[in-house]
Amino acid sequence: MRMYDIIEKKRDGHVLTTEEINFVIEQYVANHIPDYQVSALLMAIYFQGMTIEESAALTMAIVHSGEEIDLSGIDGVKVDKHSTGGVGDTTTLVLAPLVASLGVPVAKMSGRGLGHTGGTIDKLEAIKGFHVEITNEQFIELVNQNKVAVIGQSTQLAPADKLLYSLRDVTATVSSIPLIASSIMSKKIASGANAIVLDVKVGTGAFMKNLDDARKLAKTMVQIGNEVGRKTTAIISSMEEPLGNAIGNAIEIQEAIETLRGEGPEDLTELSLELGAEMVVLADGSMTKEVAKQQLKEQLTNGKAIEMFKTFIEAQGGDGSIVDNVQNLPTARYTFDVLANEAGYVSHIVANEIGAAAMMLGAGRETKDSKIDLSVGVQLHKKVGEFVEKGDIICSLYANTENTTKVKEKISENIIISNDMPKKEPLIFDIISS
Ligand code: URA
Ligand code: CA
Repeated sequence: MRMYDIIEKKRDGHVLTTEEINFVIEQYVANHIPDYQVSALLMAIYFQGMTIEESAALTMAIVHSGEEIDLSGIDGVKVDKHSTGGVGDTTTLVLAPLVASLGVPVAKMSGRGLGHTGGTIDKLEAIKGFHVEITNEQFIELVNQNKVAVIGQSTQLAPADKLLYSLRDVTATVSSIPLIASSIMSKKIASGANAIVLDVKVGTGAFMKNLDDARKLAKTMVQIGNEVGRKTTAIISSMEEPLGNAIGNAIEIQEAIETLRGEGPEDLTELSLELGAEMVVLADGSMTKEVAKQQLKEQLTNGKAIEMFKTFIEAQGGDGSIVDNVQNLPTARYTFDVLANEAGYVSHIVANEIGAAAMMLGAGRETKDSKIDLSVGVQLHKKVGEFVEKGDIICSLYANTENTTKVKEKISENIIISNDMPKKEPLIFDIISS
């Protein structure tokens, strides 16, 4: 087999065989194919696309390039959830204990990553003592014991994805749907999930800016999952404004606690119930979605969900007292309020710009070596559709510097107030399964 022929075949719009795809990934990881040839192939894929069979073959070739986590030691169907990334997305922190409180095992492998705020693990590390440096054996034991545990993503997971992603990043081939879909699905499959619930975000704060693309990506991932024997469902949800009210690390833990007590923001609660119900249904095929959602809702108000959160935190060395005393979480030195400069309806809260403001305060990483400040962030007091009077507090900034002029400017420019009541956009656009 020759790489040249494979590039030519894809360039001319033909379908690659599984053997050809395996050859490319194996030989590339082994350093036997140069970057420039793989770059050419990625560009050919960008223009010609891939069939579902090709995308599934690519996904599994990436899975086989590294470690595959064996979760068979955990009883029950292991359902994982993945979000394509948004601003202030606190759902994992809510979902993990919430779903576990119904007895569904949640074996969560998470990352730190780059972004407006830290990843799930960074956020959890805002809790004193909490740690994710546990062995795979301890991880499995914890899930069997408590139904929920979180571990850092193995560095040996899907090494081919890291190589391909770096190349895509510098060759303008990131935004290819088969490449994104196989990248995401390979990591979920290598992490040992039996079933997968995807939260595909669409809007200004998301990777996918329009509904058509989001639908295509969701469909492709669902089809790949089903093709390789992992039941997969995707929810397409809005990321026009940040999810919930908190965008930060410690403040998102606080928001998760409120939500797990049934006192959280409406959108975060709704999306968590929707994603959670899909997870429960995939784990227990005999339950209907309506029943699952109803049961999850009860766990939020009967104290079971928040109790599970405390158990989970303490089992991984964390200070469980934060559940009742959120002031034990890291707090920033200064609070600054941003006021409405006119009366009217909040018509837009531009998610990616508010995320960028949180990052300027230090809540997220710009490069992989940046240090995160867990105590800072942006707390919204108004959401799209609410009426404000001039001088009302629309959001608060938590900062460790007094010099926040630029951040305040960015926020003021990106929370837009208008005379007309905005049309209410749906939070959930679609649900795609098989
Ligand atoms: N997230 C991923 O993990 N991979 C992509 O290709 C894009 C987003
Ligand atoms: Ca949030």
